Amino acid sequence: MTESLLKPALSAPVEGSSAGAPAVVAIDGPAGSGKSSVSKAAAARLGYGFLDTGAAYRALAWHALEHGVDTSDATAVLEVFGDFDYAISLDTTDRWVRVGSVDVTAAIREPRVTDAVSGVARVAPVRHAVNELFRRLVASAPLPGVVVEGRDITTVVFPDAPVRILLTAAPEVRAARRSAELTSEDAAAVAAALHKRDAADSTVVDFLTAAEGVEVVDSTHLDFEQTVDAVLSVVDSTMGARDGR
Ligand code: DC
Repeated sequence: MTESLLKPALSAPVEGSSAGAPAVVAIDGPAGSGKSSVSKAAAARLGYGFLDTGAAYRALAWHALEHGVDTSDATAVLEVFGDFDYAISLDTTDRWVRVGSVDVTAAIREPRVTDAVSGVARVAPVRHAVNELFRRLVASAPLPGVVVEGRDITTVVFPDAPVRILLTAAPEVRAARRSAELTSEDAAAVAAALHKRDAADSTVVDFLTAAEGVEVVDSTHLDFEQTVDAVLSVVDSTMGARDGR
């Protein structure tokens, strides 16, 4: 299942080849920590690509829903995973996600997909195949580096990345940020939903504790730009240390 799944995805727009494997900046963190927007901004400033790994799970949840599958049914999820033809752009200025010929960039952000995605992300064979896909996408990217963002990226997917960061924020700050993004929902409902997703996600991945060698960036008291700066300063000091600067 995995090989046939992975081949189409590798037809993502990768042209030419880089001199060496891209440097990986791996960023983990819980929902609402700002990791997606911060990672994308950091990638743009570094001139790196950006890989939003959650998009793969969201796209698979979208694919399952298209097939009328209940995403809490692991067997049914695995069945639709067999013909999951996934592709994603790593370009920070031209971001898209496709399943087959369908552009699902916007659709995977819909609440129905968000509600269904935890079930998909819990299926171990799915995680294995998708993690392998992430490694191959990054390895074949004609870029100096890629910022890869998502749960367990610093520990399972790229444990040897030169830069590994856990982006955190206090739970109430994360909930407030989320509710500011989704103005139609009140803060209490957002906090409850966030807590539920944290709990569901943490049954498979421990994303709240930094593993050894992982730098913590706590954005509780930082605004967006300060958080990007904090991430870039970790990149600079870690890469600098690596290069003997
Ligand atoms: O970051 P996000 O909200 O787009 O993630 C969507 C879902 O996928 C969420 O339930 C966490 C899960 N996920 C995961 O398990 N592993 C990843 N590397 C990325 C996301």
